Amino acid sequence: MSIRLGDEAPNFTAETTEGTIDFHQWKDGSWAVLFSHPADFTPVCTTELGRTAGLKSEFDKRGVKVIAVSVDPVDSHNGWAPDIAEVGGTDLNFPIIADPDRNVSQLYDMIHPGEGDTSTVRSVFIIDPKNKVRLTLTYPKSVGRNFGEILRVIDALQLTDSAPVSTPVDWWPGQRIIVAPTMSTDDARQRFEEVEEVRPYLRWARQPQT
Ligand code: BEZ
Repeated sequence: MSIRLGDEAPNFTAETTEGTIDFHQWKDGSWAVLFSHPADFTPVCTTELGRTAGLKSEFDKRGVKVIAVSVDPVDSHNGWAPDIAEVGGTDLNFPIIADPDRNVSQLYDMIHPGEGDTSTVRSVFIIDPKNKVRLTLTYPKSVGRNFGEILRVIDALQLTDSAPVSTPVDWWPGQRIIVAPTMSTDDARQRFEEVEEVRPYLRWARQPQT
């Protein structure tokens, strides 16, 4: 079953490098990033998991818990962890789910048979504190993801949840935002700074403080 934005993130129980977890209990009302990688001891995956470990303080700052999954068993994940630490320059500091039965991978539709085999593709799910799926990304096995982009989207989601705004093309934190169409320009001038009406439907404003 495919998962759509706004769906509840399916719960599961699984073995991980940090013991058995119930996903919703582990998440415990935080934001979460659940992402899959095709296989342990592979080059692109090693760089991705190393980078994610190195970004721990950035995820922590945003109140986000990170968890990875692949179809390899826990022993394999544990054997691979020193390589991830060496390549990424930081010890593995988030759990990796072992999914040899493919329960989690199938629940989240992470196996795309047209991509070659029964390992997972590179899926990303950003899940909010109420367990709603807020972003999905699917990358092919041969292409590593940009974890800066994942942080950027988390910033945009947390901002747009806190005020009637949207983020424009190529937005980065600190840049101007777009006033939501549901708000009049007069109201926007009361609420935001530096409102500029380019079109009646396109109003820029300075990014509000959250
Ligand atoms: C990799 O992580 O390098 C990789 C894994 C599976 C297929 C292709 C590349």
